[in-house]
Amino acid sequence: MPFKHPLLQVTAVVLIVLLSALLNLGRSKAVPQSICTSYDHPNPLAVMFPNNATGVLNATLVIIPISLDVARRLIPPQYRILEGAYRHLLPEFPQGMYPVLVQAAHDHDIQLRAYGITLDDFSRVGFEFPFLDLLGDGYSSFRWAPAQLISATNTIAVEGSKAYGTIVSPAEYEPLCDAYHALANGATYFKGSSLTSSDFVELEMAQLPRSVLNPYPLELFRNITNQPTFANATTCDNMIRMFHTSMSVGEFAPVSVRGRVRAKTFPFEGAQKEWSNVYGVQVATPFVENNYLDCQSMQGYDGSGGPEGSLSAI
Ligand SMILES: *[C@@H]1O[C@H](CO)[C@@H](O)[C@H](O)[C@H]1NC(C)=O
Ligand SMILES: *[C@@H]1O[C@H](CO)[C@@H](O)[C@H](O)[C@H]1NC(C)=O
Ligand SMILES: *[C@@H]1O[C@H](CO)[C@@H](O)[C@H](O)[C@H]1NC(C)=O
Ligand SMILES: *[C@@H]1O[C@H](CO)[C@@H](O)[C@H](O)[C@H]1NC(C)=O
Repeated sequence: MPFKHPLLQVTAVVLIVLLSALLNLGRSKAVPQSICTSYDHPNPLAVMFPNNATGVLNATLVIIPISLDVARRLIPPQYRILEGAYRHLLPEFPQGMYPVLVQAAHDHDIQLRAYGITLDDFSRVGFEFPFLDLLGDGYSSFRWAPAQLISATNTIAVEGSKAYGTIVSPAEYEPLCDAYHALANGATYFKGSSLTSSDFVELEMAQLPRSVLNPYPLELFRNITNQPTFANATTCDNMIRMFHTSMSVGEFAPVSVRGRVRAKTFPFEGAQKEWSNVYGVQVATPFVENNYLDCQSMQGYDGSGGPEGSLSAI
């Protein structure tokens, strides 16, 4: 959730230009950007959507099944859980359970091209709660993302997320400039650690052997990651994630993974939690992001599951 939309938020753009000018000044004096080179592919959408915020998210997306009782305790009571919506996509999902998404991602090559604005790469991780009836209409799915750990080096990303009412922990990451790195045992590793508290989220995931089926189809992740997101519900974030571009085929096709998530962060209370044998996918997707929208305006939006149906491929 990096920055406000220019046409709606002119003052915000001025602020961003100033901030990015400052950041660029700061950078030229301090660490050259080349120290942080990423394996991530360049943003293919900046040219197509020069007036919009675009970028690339290279992510590990993991589903953690929790009981509906626990989900009901964690999710603010005013938002109904649209169980029918996720059962439609996942008929075999265990009874009495709810799918929480862990999203561990590297945000890369973010641009608002027409304004000559670029944002430094950053990492972020958090628990996200999809299929929530924010508007009380019984069908539009929204995703509650109440807390994030975000690279402390990217002030704009930290402040941009806080503006949604998100609890943001400025954090440091391993690896520094990528979505994950390989361990000696062949698994991938990613960890975000708060610089201001003991909060952290750590993922160690291994590629699924061919003989093991991922219980979650890619379509589930596409569906969840395209739901409009909110934190305190003052405004909503519409991130359009494209799963069918050249970035996710052939050598870079989504990889099914299974592994372990350890974490201590909101809204899970108390000591550190650990979930093993959880399944997910590693996939990089380009995105167009429309920030700080009126949530009500997203009612029936394709990505939210309106009566009309499906998100068209761009
Ligand atoms: C995603 O990140 C991994 C780890 O750095 C990298 O190997 C892969 O090439 C990246 N994928 C894309 C499409 O950027
Ligand atoms: C780009 O931004 C405009 C203005 O906010 C918006 O109407 C349009 O839907 C955005 N494009 C995409 C692909 O989201
Ligand atoms: C939500 O968070 C924003 C940004 O911190 C704040 O301006 C707004 O007042 C908050 N709204 C509610 C209902 O808490
Ligand atoms: C997500 O799934 C729901 C059904 O559970 C559907 O109504 C909605 O259109 C889907 N959204 C997308 C973006 O495919």
